[in-house]
Amino acid sequence: MKTKVVNYPDLIKARDRSASKTTFSHAKIAHFDQMLKIAKGKKYYIHTYGCQANVRDEETMRGMLESVGYVQSDIPDEASVIIINTCAVRENAEDKVYGEIGNLKRLRKQNKNLVLAICGCMVEQPEILEILQKRFPEVNLYFGTHEIDQLIDLVYEVINNDFRLISIESKKGEVIENNSVSRNNNYKAYVNIIYGCDKFCTYCIVPYTRGKERSRKFNDIMDEVRELKKQNYQEITFLGQNVNAYGKDLDEGHDFADVLEEAAKMGIPRIRFTTSHPWDFSSKMIEVIAKYDNIMKCIHLPVQSGSDEVLRLMGRRYNREKYLSLVKEMREKIPGLSLSTDIIVGFPNETEEQFNDTLSLVDIVKYESAFTFIYSPRRGTPAAKIPDNVSYADKSRRFKELVKHLEVNIEKDALTYVGGVYKVLVDGESKTDKNMLSGYTESNKLVHFKGDSSLVGKIVKVKINESHTYSLLGELVNE
Ligand code: 5AD
Ligand code: SF4
Repeated sequence: MKTKVVNYPDLIKARDRSASKTTFSHAKIAHFDQMLKIAKGKKYYIHTYGCQANVRDEETMRGMLESVGYVQSDIPDEASVIIINTCAVRENAEDKVYGEIGNLKRLRKQNKNLVLAICGCMVEQPEILEILQKRFPEVNLYFGTHEIDQLIDLVYEVINNDFRLISIESKKGEVIENNSVSRNNNYKAYVNIIYGCDKFCTYCIVPYTRGKERSRKFNDIMDEVRELKKQNYQEITFLGQNVNAYGKDLDEGHDFADVLEEAAKMGIPRIRFTTSHPWDFSSKMIEVIAKYDNIMKCIHLPVQSGSDEVLRLMGRRYNREKYLSLVKEMREKIPGLSLSTDIIVGFPNETEEQFNDTLSLVDIVKYESAFTFIYSPRRGTPAAKIPDNVSYADKSRRFKELVKHLEVNIEKDALTYVGGVYKVLVDGESKTDKNMLSGYTESNKLVHFKGDSSLVGKIVKVKINESHTYSLLGELVNE
């Protein structure tokens, strides 16, 4: 089978930040009518790996596929379109994708008309794309994070031609509005406010795969929030690789604090946001979070390391002291604040002393939750070129030690809930026990309790009876 390349990813272009302002356009589907006929009665299957940005992208893809008549399926064998939405942030995420495609490729042999597509962050890396093409000649569509709005036309082209299609442009900066969306959930929603990242932390592939920071227009965001409020959504989460940089690329004069405040005034019961970069976090943002009851007092504030030298090599733009003083300001101004973080252990040449600095920072900040990672070299990033003298065994040991330190405070924090009554937004049956419901407190603690499934999507009061490291056990309080 021949390959048609519309655009091929390019890391040099992906690094370019010379485009000054973000441009805007509206989604359009050229072959909408033709696809209505083709998709009728057919099914699609999507599997998404990685972060919330990918989950939100999946919702857009689902909305687009459903707009022409495809119906969602959990069974790849019965699908006419299969999409694997990938993550590139660490090697283990990539390995899972190789495994899944290995299992799915047989379906293309059985069904010549099947569209087998790979999208997301992995295919934005030219070398990974080469590997995928060699290993999986069965895959007949590759598209990037900037081509999601073109999905229907790309599927049309693959169905009507006997070639493999690659459409992955390392673009400078565009925001496309008015895409369809089929949300995963009818009481909790993700709302994108800014795409891409300009921080270029030296270990991270995201600025290459997701491109330049591009903010959505303030009014477009507010229209979406207003619509969600009208549909009785109980919780929204503002999304961005770095939400605190919102507005810097626009001339509208609005920042992230304005987004939070305007949304809070609309009265959605719970407003969350992720992810925050300490460098862009202003006092004004802290004050707005403190001021409104419906902005959840939860801040995910990745620190990555507690060592000044490692932070410098990571290109994080703050040192330990600056980070700790930001935390101090947040804790002082936002009573009941719940702080979470991301930490990487085993950055190239990290010494035992530098690692101990991370442990001591963790002990000082007392995070209520944390995501921890072993450093994974990403080809094309500056850190991947640094020769590393730390063995994998040492990295694993440090990882376990770090988790132990974090858990001391996480457990202590969980214990403070016992005996109290908390508001819980009910998500559904507990994953571990079908007789229990589960949901999250305002501070984002997972709670299990007995209750009727009619409570799903509602905010209820739960008295906490027991605490575990990563969950709480309670009983419904009848009012
Ligand atoms: N190796 C390990 N962890 C990484 N992260 C990003 N890039 C890497 C990498 N190369 C982590 C960071 C980031 C989170 C989303 O993933 O901690 O905050
Ligand atoms: Fe990656 Fe750093 Fe951007 Fe986060 S802020 S996405 S870690 S480059």
